[in-house]
This record gives sequence, C-alpha cells and structure tokens, in this order.
Amino acid sequence: QKFDVCVLGATGLVGKTIIEILEQRDFPINKLYPLASARSAGGFIEFNGESIEVLDADNFDWSQAQIGFFSAGGAISAKYAPIAGDAGCIVIDNTSEFRYDADVPLVVPEVNPQALAEYRNRNIIANPNCSTIQMLMALKPIYDEVGISRVNVSTYQSVSGGGKEAMDELAKQTSDLLCGKPVESKNFSRQIAFNVIPQIDVFLENGYTKEEMKMVWETKKILGDDNVLVNPTAVRVPVFFGHGESLHIETNAPISAEAVKELLSNAPGLVVCHNDEDFPTQIGDASGKDETYVGRIREDISHNSGINMWIVADNVRKGAATNSVQIAELLIKDHLSEY
Ligand code: A2P
Repeated sequence: QKFDVCVLGATGLVGKTIIEILEQRDFPINKLYPLASARSAGGFIEFNGESIEVLDADNFDWSQAQIGFFSAGGAISAKYAPIAGDAGCIVIDNTSEFRYDADVPLVVPEVNPQALAEYRNRNIIANPNCSTIQMLMALKPIYDEVGISRVNVSTYQSVSGGGKEAMDELAKQTSDLLCGKPVESKNFSRQIAFNVIPQIDVFLENGYTKEEMKMVWETKKILGDDNVLVNPTAVRVPVFFGHGESLHIETNAPISAEAVKELLSNAPGLVVCHNDEDFPTQIGDASGKDETYVGRIREDISHNSGINMWIVADNVRKGAATNSVQIAELLIKDHLSEY
C-alpha cells in the first residue's frame, strides 16, 4: 500500500530534508508532488533517481495527495492547510501556526503517540518546535519514572533553524569578517558570526521571546500536564546545524544520575553518553543524525532532587524533517491501514 504525498516548501531547507528522509526511510510513496511558490515552480528535484518537477502550490489540487508535509512558513500554512485538510490531504505542519489549537494534535512519536488520533478533527497534525522536541525526548522517561516539577533550560541553537537565508548570512558574515570587510545583518538582530544572540523570534509582552514561550506551551500540551513549569532562555549561536540545550530539572522524587543514564539508555531515539568526557556536540555527533544525544548527566549540587544534562540534536532532522516523517509513519501504521 502506497500513498500520494506532497511536500510544500520542497525547495527549502526542511522540505529538501523531508524529501531526502522519505527516500532514506523507504517511505511508501506512490507519487510525490514537490510544491513551492511560483518563483521555484518549473524547477526539478531529485527523488529515488527521478527528476520531479516542482509545482506552484497556488494551482495544486490538494485532493491528489493523501499526506502533505508543510514547511513553507506560518502564513503559507495558514493559507493552504485548512483547504488541504478539507480536500482529504492529512497535513503534517512544521510551522507554529496550528500548534496551540486545542483540536490539533502536537506530536513527538516517541513521547505522545496516542495524541495522533485527534488528527481526524481537522486533518492537521502539528510538528513541535525543534527545541521542544529534543528536550522532551530526554525528559519523557524521567517524567514517567519520578515526575518533573520544573525545568530550567538554556538553548544554544544553530542558524539552520532560521532557514537557508539565515545559514547564508552566517557564512557570508564569517568570510567577510575574515577578509576585513564590513558586515550587514538581515536575518538576525545582531551580527551572528563570532557572536551569540539571546533572541530567537520576537519579544512578547512578558519579556520572553516567542521561541522561549513555545517551549513552555508545547511542553505542557505534549505531556498533557499544565503543572510542569518550564523556564527557558533561547540563544542563537554561530553553528550551522544542531541545537544544544543545557537543562536543570527538578524532579518530584530524588533520582541518581546513574538511574537517569539507565532510564535514557533504554528509551527509543536517544544516545546516552555515559562518561563525563564523552559529551556530545553538534559536529561529529548530532549533525546529520536522527537520534537525540544526551551527556553531562549529573546530580544538581544545589538541589536534593535535581538533575543536570546536556542535550544535542540535529534541528533540521529530529527537530523538523525526521519527526514529521515519523509522524507520517505512525499515521499509516495506526490509522491509515484501511486504505
Ligand atoms: P520558493 O523556492 O518558491 O521560495 P526556507 O525555510 O529554507 O527559507 O524555505 C522556505 C520554503 O517555503 C521554500 O521552499 C519556498 O519556496 C517556500 N515558500 C515560500 N513562500 C511560499 C509561497 N508563497 N507559496 C509556496 N511556497 C512558498
């Protein structure tokens, strides 16, 4: 049994990676429709050894696809996802457009697969924010074992989270600076090369950025627990691929670092670095991989039921494309087998 699939944003960073992962995982595709704006329509992408023409999303008949991967930005999803859903195309949306709608499931397959069934409400499933996904991958086994009351988290997020233009800006600023040329900032509020910027997305009235609040809202929704407190600081760093996160977790009952390592070692999708000096980084570990890496697991010396850890994952893969494809695989396995 195979499916007709469209990818909206097929020429973008996440869309391209989705297409690569569909091929790598041998996803059961009958026909692939790569979609973008009129700017890229008429171009070609490669899939399973074939060149496939990119189509203008504006003219697409959504009833031709049973599954749609959307990653062209929030406004584009707002415009097309309801139409696609009504036409019978089940949308897996990478933007934040529908994440906080009560009738749209927000899914990390290893964490809350049961939520997926609610896709039937609107034929829309939301993929969480990249920082939330990797954090919850590591938190869920601990949450299930001893409960978590509070998480303090600081992120170290790569520029690929801002799309291709953001990556180009880091590359250009870096080479310009090394050649003694002046630099210009377009995608970030400060120079990103050789710098660290404690702002991702816009500032909200409470003084937190929207990226930070996404981690708060999404954690509660995915765990189905409004009592889990999340206190985030989201920071952009001059790294191309992979987000790092430093976490301080307060658990409901004390748990040793050894017990946490054991729990996480048995959880799906995680790679645990057992020795302190084997900590994971973006380069060499997480970048280009689908797993979430956890290291520096240690007891908090300032709190009697606290655990600290360092989490790294590829934001374009597990943080976006891989998670979306896993959602589609779960959808097929649990809900579309009658096709
Ligand atoms: P296009 O190539 O036509 O601009 P990234 O996140 O890497 O910046 O990529 C954004 C993706 O979203 C691209 O594939 C881009 O296609 C697509 N996109 C942007 N605007 C639109 C639009 N109005 N309609 C359809 N796709 C769009």
